[in-house]
Amino acid sequence: MNENSLYHNTTVGDTTIKGNIFLAPMAGFTDVPFRSLCIDEGADLTFTEMVSAEGLSRDGEKTMDLMKRAQNEQHYAIQLFMGSPEPLEKALERLLPYNPTLIDINCGCPVPKVTKTGAGSSIMRNPEMITKMVRLIVETVSIPVSVKFRTGWDADSENFLAFAQAALDGGASLLTLHARTKAQGYAPFAHWEKLTELKNYCVSHGYQVPVFGSGDLFTASDAKKMLEQTGIDGVMFARGAIGNPFIFVQTKELLAGQDLKPISLERKKAIILKHLDLMIIHYGEKSACMQMRKHACSYLKGLPGIGPIKQAFVKATSKQDYCQALEMLGGTC
Ligand SMILES: Cc1cc2nc3c(=O)[nH]c(=O)nc-3n(C[C@H](O)[C@H](O)[C@H](O)COP(=O)(O)O)c2cc1C
Repeated sequence: MNENSLYHNTTVGDTTIKGNIFLAPMAGFTDVPFRSLCIDEGADLTFTEMVSAEGLSRDGEKTMDLMKRAQNEQHYAIQLFMGSPEPLEKALERLLPYNPTLIDINCGCPVPKVTKTGAGSSIMRNPEMITKMVRLIVETVSIPVSVKFRTGWDADSENFLAFAQAALDGGASLLTLHARTKAQGYAPFAHWEKLTELKNYCVSHGYQVPVFGSGDLFTASDAKKMLEQTGIDGVMFARGAIGNPFIFVQTKELLAGQDLKPISLERKKAIILKHLDLMIIHYGEKSACMQMRKHACSYLKGLPGIGPIKQAFVKATSKQDYCQALEMLGGTC
């Protein structure tokens, strides 16, 4: 791997991760089965759904479940959210046995249930808090810490450079900027020029921490463009990976100068079934079939005439139901 090319290793603390094409944390999506699938499809690092430090400190079994590692995840990051450093000490005790490569702190979630506790993007209004949180983790466990944040609370209070500095003051080893304000939610368009500003800030202040970008990455070409235009060190796919885990390999192929090959219908069918099988192993058939509905529809997005198949997916309660729905696409299951 040529370290000068757009595709290169990522160093966090003392650990080198092969590659710089990551799967972003997504609540309700980046569970063990989906992360496992994305690793097989070329993701270089995966992030868990956000995990409540408060829930962990109370020993919540469901919360602990979110931290499980998939068998093929040599490296993975656990993302925590909390509104103050208080629950961290206990939470870290519970987290330590999972031995993630990275602990990420969520400073971007815009959901009121989260922000009203002072967590998620609320932390951006209180940069000293992120210094305290990062420092406490760094001083308690020997696991590198990363911070994922937005450009600010709203357009009038953009403070991502000061916030990045606060995270670096605490000892952060990697920064990810979702290039939107909290007020923007997920609306178009992400401001990629802020990624350039952040990278330049880090370089000009002598920080060698990798800077990753998130926001409006829906195709391999988007990722290539973001890397080329902004000078950042890596990308995190979020919505672009839902129903399209092929995006990781495609990005690597594009960065290696290869032409993109379309994904055949057969390949899509096979990946839906593989995803479902991974879900069944993790959740059991009944729960897996319910949870798979949102994923299954995404795989077929944009294909003509798939209305009846989607309707069958949203009623599916067994693997057999999924197979029958897929047979409508032709071929056997
Ligand atoms: C359904 C969903 C759940 C998300 N959950 C999280 C989360 O748990 N933690 C986090 O830091 N970001 C979360 N995000 C934000 C993404 O990681 C990403 O930063 C954002 O979607 C922007 O990238 P995109 O425009 O390419 O999708 C979530 C996004 C979506 C769509």
